[in-house]
Amino acid sequence: MDLHRPHPALVPRPRRLSVRPGRFRLDDTTRLRVTPGAEPAAALLRTLLAPATGLPLTTASDGTFVLVLDAALTGLGEEGYGLTVSPHGVLLRAARPAGLAHGVQTVRQLLPHQVLSDAPRPGVPWELPAVEITDVPRHSWRGALLDVARHFQPVSYLRRYVDLLALHKLNVFHLHLTDDQGWRMPVTAYPRLTEVGGRRARSMVGPAGSDRFDDEPHGGFYTRAELAALVAYAAVRGVTVLPEVGVPGHVRAALAAHPELGNSPERRLDVWTHWGVCENVLGVGDHVLDFVRTVLDEVMDVFPSPHIHIGGDECPTAEWETSPAALARVARERLPGPRALHGWFMDRVAGHVVRAGRRPVAWAEHGSRLPPECTVMSWRESAHTWSAARRGHDVVHADHRATYFDYARSPSPLEPPAQPGVVVDLRTVHDLDLTPPKPDPRAEARVLGAQGQLWTEFVTTPGHIEYLSFPRLCALADRVWDGTADWRDFTTRLTRHEARLDTLRVPHATPPPRPTHATV
Ligand code: ACM
Repeated sequence: MDLHRPHPALVPRPRRLSVRPGRFRLDDTTRLRVTPGAEPAAALLRTLLAPATGLPLTTASDGTFVLVLDAALTGLGEEGYGLTVSPHGVLLRAARPAGLAHGVQTVRQLLPHQVLSDAPRPGVPWELPAVEITDVPRHSWRGALLDVARHFQPVSYLRRYVDLLALHKLNVFHLHLTDDQGWRMPVTAYPRLTEVGGRRARSMVGPAGSDRFDDEPHGGFYTRAELAALVAYAAVRGVTVLPEVGVPGHVRAALAAHPELGNSPERRLDVWTHWGVCENVLGVGDHVLDFVRTVLDEVMDVFPSPHIHIGGDECPTAEWETSPAALARVARERLPGPRALHGWFMDRVAGHVVRAGRRPVAWAEHGSRLPPECTVMSWRESAHTWSAARRGHDVVHADHRATYFDYARSPSPLEPPAQPGVVVDLRTVHDLDLTPPKPDPRAEARVLGAQGQLWTEFVTTPGHIEYLSFPRLCALADRVWDGTADWRDFTTRLTRHEARLDTLRVPHATPPPRPTHATV
């Protein structure tokens, strides 16, 4: 490496990059030349650069900053881009809009970190080093889950989170919308889901099984318009919002709103105030399947995502084992026993999603085979990624030991309260390996990618979300985009990338202040 031309510290690392002599300066006279279809990327570039630079970057037919959308660039695939910066101009090319959006993020990272500021930064020379980059992601699924069910965040914050994902070329924002402790997805036919299920009276303090609670009601839900606008905001940035409305477990908030959907219709339940795995699950009557189909139809109306997450995890079968209606269903469907109702239920729900032209996604569980059309999110064991891929499922790797960011970043006692039992340090995330233990090209091709999970039982504030997400999401993004396990190279780049996170006021190094009640 030429020391006079330091490598730009890009995260994720581009697949091919060479640094050339010279620099290109953006100033008041810089004009964009934009080919048909590249206008949204030009608008994104302007939007992202305007707050710090104030540059107009208007369009002109002889502009020196050229954005080209050209479907003939097939080698760049759905998301790749080529970027040439010389002292005389910039050429950003892609075959698809998502590629241009990712290229815009590279332009941002090549500029001085002050460009990420939301306030004017006069006096900074807005220069890009001359480079030649050809960049195509190794994996098509580069995701991040945010659990807004355990603790709600307003849609304004979700937009910021999308921006942080896009900066790292992460392309799936998995929005965990419903759970035992809260239902955040509006459903026109069932307004009580959000009116009743959107609010709990209090919250457990400490991990599952604790006997302490705070005294603070917690609630919130989105409107359809907010979610639709979020989807559009993310799409421009190359990010797909993957909605998750999980069944048949993790539904206590829905049961609080609609007891008739449960296994003891006369019983009144509250929105759960505990953490852990709840015993209460959906019943298996035809009216329950109708309910799930209605909800999913509305989910699919709001979210154009090709994948729809239907949950499927942690579904205790105790209620089905004693419910006369569930036992009658077992007999009618000739199932071997109540435990088989889980697979039966998932089959029906997945089938509905498939008939609507979408692809269902479900969490891998012990002992229950998912319908073959399901994309499997494997979270319990790394090995499940490979067993599901060999069975012919598409798979997203979400192994909790490497991708669950509700676990502490380090064993230090100074870490904020976290999910106990495991530490997920930065090295573990960057070591994430998506090659099979034994060569198996067919299984390997089934693994779409990986994603980080941020469950929020103990995470109530944006600052805490970001402290847990960053820099671990930087490591995940690096591995799923580039695929190379070069820890030293990553940490060298990260040191300089941290200046970007600082400018964005991401508290990546500073634990959030401890809420007074939330001692674990
Ligand atoms: C999960 O952590 N229950 C998917």
